Amino acid sequence: MPAIISVRSLGKTYAGGVIALSDVSLNIEQGEILALLGPNGAGKTTLISAICGLVVPDCGQVTVAGHDIARDWRAARAMIGLVPQEITIEPFERVINTVRFSRGLFGKPPDEAHIEKVLRALSLWDKRKARNMELSGGMKRRVLIAKALSHEPRILFLDEPTAGVDVTLRRDMWALVRRLRDDGVTIILTTHYIEEAEEMADRIGVINHGRLLLVEDKTKLMKHMGRKTLRLELQEPVEQVPQALAPYGLRIEEDGRVLVFGYDTRAGRTGITRLLADLAAAGISVRDLDTEQSSLEQIFLTLVEESA
Ligand SMILES: Nc1ncnc2c1ncn2[C@@H]1O[C@H](COP(=O)(O)OP(=O)(O)O)[C@@H](O)[C@H]1O
Ligand SMILES: [Mg+2]
Repeated sequence: MPAIISVRSLGKTYAGGVIALSDVSLNIEQGEILALLGPNGAGKTTLISAICGLVVPDCGQVTVAGHDIARDWRAARAMIGLVPQEITIEPFERVINTVRFSRGLFGKPPDEAHIEKVLRALSLWDKRKARNMELSGGMKRRVLIAKALSHEPRILFLDEPTAGVDVTLRRDMWALVRRLRDDGVTIILTTHYIEEAEEMADRIGVINHGRLLLVEDKTKLMKHMGRKTLRLELQEPVEQVPQALAPYGLRIEEDGRVLVFGYDTRAGRTGITRLLADLAAAGISVRDLDTEQSSLEQIFLTLVEESA
C-alpha cells in the first residue's frame, strides 16, 4: 500500500512551553483506518491539526498525496475532510445549507445528489430543514461529519468522534466509518477509548506527551494480546540463564530473583511443563509462579507509564 500521508519529524511547542509534538514521523497508507490512541493532552488534536494544515509546526514536514501541506495547502486540504473535536457550526443556519456551504468552501460545484446521499447516510435527511441549534448534541455531531464529507474527501479525520456520544450514535458512526473505508476513503481517528481503537482500526498508533510511541498493525497487537507471561519467583537468585534453558527465551528480572517466560495461549502446547522440568534439571527451584495476560490495555498503559 502506498503512503497517502507522510509525516516527517514534526515538532510543535505552544507558546507557554507545552511540547505538544516531539519528532513525530508516520506514514499513513491509502485506504486504511488508523487510530491514534492516547490520553487527554497527549497531542492527538495537535497532530491531526498539523497534518490538516491548521496548526503550523515548528519543524518537520507533511505531505498529502505528494502535496506539501505548507507550500501547497489548497491542493492538500481539498483531499481532506476533518471532523473537529469541538462542535463548531452556525447555530441559526439550516442543516442542509451548512453542508452545501461547506462544499462550496472547497470550490466544488453544487451537487444536490451528493448532499442528499451524505445527509441520508447520517440519518439527517429528515432534519435537513432544521436549524443547527434545534438539534441534539448527537445530531450536531452528525452535521459535523456531513460537513466534512460534503466535498467528497479521500481522507477523513475524526477527532474523538464518539467522546460523550450515546451507544446508538457510536455504533452508527462505526458503521459509517466502515462504509467509507469500503469506498476507499482513508480514515484517521483519534480516541482515548481502547475498545474503539480495537474495534475500528487496521493500525493503532499510541501517542503520549507528544511522542508517537508505537504504530502497529492491530492484528499484530492482538497477537501480543494472545500472549501470556509466566513469572517464576526463584528460591535463589540466578546471575544468568543456564545454557540448557536458552531456547525458552527467559528474561531475568528483579536482580535474578524472577524469570519471565512468554508463551502463546493459543498454541497447542505452552511449553510450561517442560520448562518446569528443565528448570528442576538445571538445579533451579521455583518458590512461586504467577501468570499475566497482556492486553492492549496493558500494552497501552505500560507504554504510557514508561513515557511519563
Ligand atoms: N492552542 C494551544 N495553546 C497552548 N497549549 C495548547 C494549545 N492546544 C493544545 N495545547 C496543549 O498541548 C498539549 C496537547 O494538546 P492536544 O493536542 O489538544 O492533546 P489531545 O488532543 O491528545 O488531548 C496539551 O498539553 C494542551 O494543553
Ligand atoms: Mg484532542
